[in-house]
Order: sequence, then C-alpha cells, then structure tokens
Amino acid sequence: MAKHPVAKVSELPPGTRRLVRVGNIEVGLFHVEGRIVAYRNVCPHAGAPVCVGRISGTSLPSAVYDYQYGHEGCILRCPWHGWEFDLRTGEHLVDPATRLKAIPVVPPASPASEQLEPIPIEREGDSLCLVLPGESPNP
Ligand code: FES
Repeated sequence: MAKHPVAKVSELPPGTRRLVRVGNIEVGLFHVEGRIVAYRNVCPHAGAPVCVGRISGTSLPSAVYDYQYGHEGCILRCPWHGWEFDLRTGEHLVDPATRLKAIPVVPPASPASEQLEPIPIEREGDSLCLVLPGESPNP
C-alpha cells in the first residue's frame, strides 16, 4: 500500500469541500457537522462528478402547504439531474439504498464508513492521505 497525501485538515474548515485526485481516482472531501467525510466523485445515478454539486439544505417532510427547510450544509445536489444526497451518510434522500461511494476517513470512524471501499483515507495529524492498495510504500 502507498499513502498519497491529498489535503490538510486545516485546509478544510467546517462547511467546505475539496476535490482531490490520485491517479484516476477522484475523491470529494467534505467537512460536515464536525466530521470529515469522503466520497468517490461518481454519482450512483449516471456517473456525474457529484462532488462538485451544490451543498445546501433541503425541504423536510411536512404537511400540505407547510414548507420546512432543514439540514443546511448537509445536502449535496448532483449537478446533472439534481439527486440529493445526505453528506453525513451518503444516502440518497428519497431512496436511502442508493448511496454515494463512501471512503472511510480513519480515524475517526463514521457512520458513512460502513460502506467501505478498500482505499481508506488516513488522517495523520493535519494530513489526509489516500491509501491505495497494490502500490509499493512511499520511501
Ligand atoms: S448523474 Fe447524478 S443525478 Fe443523474
């Protein structure tokens, strides 16, 4: 395995994102509600670069003619067709079985890391490193 430093935690203040690339793997890093989460930059619908989508809130379930807005800063909207995903879990808002491809950020573990891909991002102090399998270690 080889570690690829991709960002500094200090470069990701709350509410921000950063797009990083190692080889042909593009990852969106998001600082949402005090946690750093990471997702592959591929929408599960049709492959759009979902991580560049607008971050906002969304309409909450409510009674007829009662419009409530919430989850500000936690919803990622895909730029192609507008599917909305909860950045805290990676779940599509309408169909939670449809999810962004999460990459675990360790430590700390997060609920989003339950759908692990075998390419974690390791947090070492202020550094975030993408760990790719099958490569020789960095010297
Ligand atoms: S490609 Fe993302 S919603 Fe269609």
